[in-house]
Amino acid sequence: VTGAAIESHLDLLLRPLPLSHASIFDAIRSDGPVQWAPHLRAWLVTGYDESTKLLRHPAVREASGEELWRKLDGIAGIDSSATLKMLPYFPFWMGGAEHKRSREALTEIAKTLYGEIVDQAGRLAQGYLEEARRAGGFDLAENFASKLYPEAIFHALGIGPDKRASLRQVHELAAIFEAPRTTAQYRRIGQEFAKSHDILSSHVKESLRSGASSLIRAIAAVTPVAEDDSQVDAIARTLALLIATGSDTISGAIAYGVYELLSESGRDIEQKSWPEVAADVMRHVSSIVAMRRELTADIEIAGVHMRSGDPVVFAIIAANHDAALCGEDPHRIAIRKCGIGLAFGTGAHVCIGLRIGRSILHSALSALADAPRLRLGGEPVASDSPAIRVCKSMPMEFI
Ligand code: HEM
Repeated sequence: VTGAAIESHLDLLLRPLPLSHASIFDAIRSDGPVQWAPHLRAWLVTGYDESTKLLRHPAVREASGEELWRKLDGIAGIDSSATLKMLPYFPFWMGGAEHKRSREALTEIAKTLYGEIVDQAGRLAQGYLEEARRAGGFDLAENFASKLYPEAIFHALGIGPDKRASLRQVHELAAIFEAPRTTAQYRRIGQEFAKSHDILSSHVKESLRSGASSLIRAIAAVTPVAEDDSQVDAIARTLALLIATGSDTISGAIAYGVYELLSESGRDIEQKSWPEVAADVMRHVSSIVAMRRELTADIEIAGVHMRSGDPVVFAIIAANHDAALCGEDPHRIAIRKCGIGLAFGTGAHVCIGLRIGRSILHSALSALADAPRLRLGGEPVASDSPAIRVCKSMPMEFI
C-alpha cells in the first residue's frame, strides 16, 4: 500500500512544500488516493472524494497534542503551562458537546469580527499599495499579505502601535497546529504563548474597564470561561486563537495566490481580472496544506483497510488539485464551478473564519487589480512551516 512516488519524496509534508508540488502529488495520487506513508507514520490521503468522505466520517477523530505537552513539561527547559491553559479554547481537538459549545461561541464572535475588520482590511490594502507605488516596489509577503488581517484586528481592538510591535509574533502560535520536531520548537511555542497572553490580557483588562472595543464586548458575552480561569484570561486566549488561526492562513493565500497568478497557473488571467478568480486562487493555494486525524474504528476506503488507532494525514492541497473536484486542468487558475474545495476543511471542524478569509483575499486581489502591472522581483522565501503555506518574503516590482 505504499507507492513508489511516496518513497521518492520522504520529506514531503515534513518540510515546507516546494513551489512545484503539483506533479509530486499527482504522481502519488495516481499510485492510489490513500496510501501508507512510512515517513509520516500515517495513512496519506491525496484524493478529493476520499478526503471529503473521511473528514466527515464519525470514526475519524481529532488528534490532540495535549498529552504530549503534559509529558514534555519541565523537559529541556520546556514550560507547557501557558500552552495547556490555552488548549481549552482551541476547538480543533474537541469533540461532542464541548466542541459544539465552543463552536457556537466562536461562530458568534466571527460574525462580529467580520463586521469589524473586513472593510478595514480593504482600506489597509489600498493604503499599503499606495505606499508601494510611491516606493516603486514592495515586499508583497512582508508589507502587504501578512499585515492585512492582524493589523485590521489590532485596529478593531484599539491596540496602539507601541503594543502592536510586541504582538506581531502571535501569528507564530499557529505552530501549535503542527507537530513540532525539536524541543527548541516546543520551548519557543511555550514562551510565545506566555508572552502574548501577558500583553493581550493586560489590554483586555483595560478595554473591559473602558468598554472601548465592541469586539472584546462580543467575546465577553459568549465565551465560556474554563475552570481556574478568569473572564479576562478567557477573552485574551480567544483573541490569541483568532489572531493565530487567521494570520498565516490569509497571508499565505494572498502571497502564494499572487505567485501562482503570475506563473504558468495564472497565464490566462489578466491582473485586472484577479478578483474574479479569488475562489479558485483559494482552492489552488490551500494555505492549510495538511491536517492530521486518528481512526476510532476500522475503515475500508479505496481498497485500503485502515485499522482503529491508525493516524491519517490529509493532504488538503492534493485533494484540491484532484481532477475529481475540478475537472480538467486542475493546476490552472480559472473561473470554475467547483468552488474552494477543502481549503477551509469540511465536516464538524469546518473553518469558522471562512467568510473573513475569502473576503480579505478578495479585497487584496481587488486592490492589486487596480495597481500598475506587477512582476516578481525575486524568488519567494517560504517560512519553515510544513503544514501552513506561508511566505516570508516576495519582492515585487511595478512594470
Ligand atoms: C484563508 C484563510 C483560512 C484558511 C485557509 C483556513 C483553513 C481552515 C481549515 C482547513 C480548518 C479545518 C481544520 C480541521 O478540520 O482540523 C479551519 C478551522 C478553523 N479555522 Fe480557519 N482558515 C482560515 C481563516 C480563519 C480565520 C480568519 C479564522 C478566525 C476568525 C479561523 C478560525 C478557525 C477556527 C477557530 C477553526 C477550528 C474550527 C473547529 O475546530 O471547529 N480561520 N480553518
